[in-house]
Amino acid sequence: MDGRQSRFSITPSRGCKITLSIFSSVNHLRLADPMPSSTPRDSTESSDRSLPTIQWTEAGQDWAARWRSERGAPPPKRVVLADDTVTADVAYRFACEGTALLWRGDFNNATQLLQAMARRADKTPARKQRKSAKDAAPAALPADVFHQFRQAQSQRARILGSLLLPFNEDYGIALRRAPDARQACAEAWGPAQPDAGPSVASLRELLGMIGAHEWRKKGVEIPALGDPPNNRIHAHYGVFSPVRGEYVNLVASAPLPPTGQEKFTAFDIGTGTGVLAAVLARRGIEQVVATDQDARALACARENIERLGVGAQVQVVEADLFPPGRASLVVCNPPWLPARPGSPLEAAVYDEDSRMLLGFLRGLVAHLVLGGEGWLILSDIAEHLGLRSRADLLAAFERCGLKVVARMDARPRHPKASDASDPLHAARAAEMTSLWRLAAGMVSTS
Ligand SMILES: C[S@@+](CC[C@H](N)C(=O)[O-])C[C@H]1O[C@@H](n2cnc3c(N)ncnc32)[C@H](O)[C@@H]1O
Repeated sequence: MDGRQSRFSITPSRGCKITLSIFSSVNHLRLADPMPSSTPRDSTESSDRSLPTIQWTEAGQDWAARWRSERGAPPPKRVVLADDTVTADVAYRFACEGTALLWRGDFNNATQLLQAMARRADKTPARKQRKSAKDAAPAALPADVFHQFRQAQSQRARILGSLLLPFNEDYGIALRRAPDARQACAEAWGPAQPDAGPSVASLRELLGMIGAHEWRKKGVEIPALGDPPNNRIHAHYGVFSPVRGEYVNLVASAPLPPTGQEKFTAFDIGTGTGVLAAVLARRGIEQVVATDQDARALACARENIERLGVGAQVQVVEADLFPPGRASLVVCNPPWLPARPGSPLEAAVYDEDSRMLLGFLRGLVAHLVLGGEGWLILSDIAEHLGLRSRADLLAAFERCGLKVVARMDARPRHPKASDASDPLHAARAAEMTSLWRLAAGMVSTS
């Protein structure tokens, strides 16, 4: 949500016009032929037992399939079948009431329907606007605005996640004009299992996976990694993408601590795509150990490190925060917002109870060689949102036996920072990203 990461993009389908018929009640939703890829209930035995099942009735028979939700939503309890004849108003009303629509029509029409539903979700009725203005008077606290914003986002995700698609066992989509998204699905869900059976997931999630697949192919140029073409980072689905370059530039330009060690070593804690580890390697650091806990991040970092040709310098390991040992430099870019992630995909953006931040600060001294430095990369957006104070941060440094050697600041340049219609505009416009150079010792604030 802080502009660093945008996982779900709704891609407009082109060249397709749909005339939506007007319907007024559930009874008018048309029942189509039973889904060829689904299985009658009681016959969904599969090797993938970790996935729950979604069930529905079709042509007088009960059906079931595996339920996939990357945002961690439970299978919908009520499911109706919908096709090209359903209107956006009807679909939206069902979705708001908690009824999911399993799509049986044309794929492009489904994407248009989703866009129409999104427009409805984004349009706040005047009555509601007046009420929230009244509730917010005289001046809502930034933290309240933030929590309301997240609540609205989560509600929107729930509603738009109600338009569902059927997937065959090989992730093929047996709908008219459906794209071949098998590769995108395999990248997000893992390789198709021959005996896993059919599944159902939301169209919104599929579009997010297709978008992520395209970004993964294309990559993001990181000028701090040197000249093109060998300076791109390819983020995997669900892995934090370094689209905001200002923090990467800070890591590329901060002076390395003169520790006098024979071999300069660095740790990159929570490496994500591996971008900071690669930047450190390109700066000539001989040995970098990059850690993460997330399987997708570990695979992604390993791939980027190899592709960039810095595999001899960078080792990617699974660890909860620190690897064993000490280093001359320990870099960490934790999620910047102390709040509970709304879904597993948000875990790189929200740091519940500041666990990663505080875990890094608590363990830092024990992982630095004499004269070594810890570089904490943190935006102050949480301060502008009233979720953490500067005094809290400085007190945490002090409690952890750390002093501030220096701080380098950079203003974010992402488009959200200048979007005045964004509910969090005030915080984003004031935001500063900092690299805190920390060392063992008493705190001296700057
Ligand atoms: C904000 S992302 C930063 C990724 C990358 N360093 C960058 O700057 O682009 C935070 C990363 O920390 C990882 N992470 C969260 N908790 C962790 C832990 N306890 N140990 C290791 N990694 C963790 C997440 O999986 C995520 O990849």
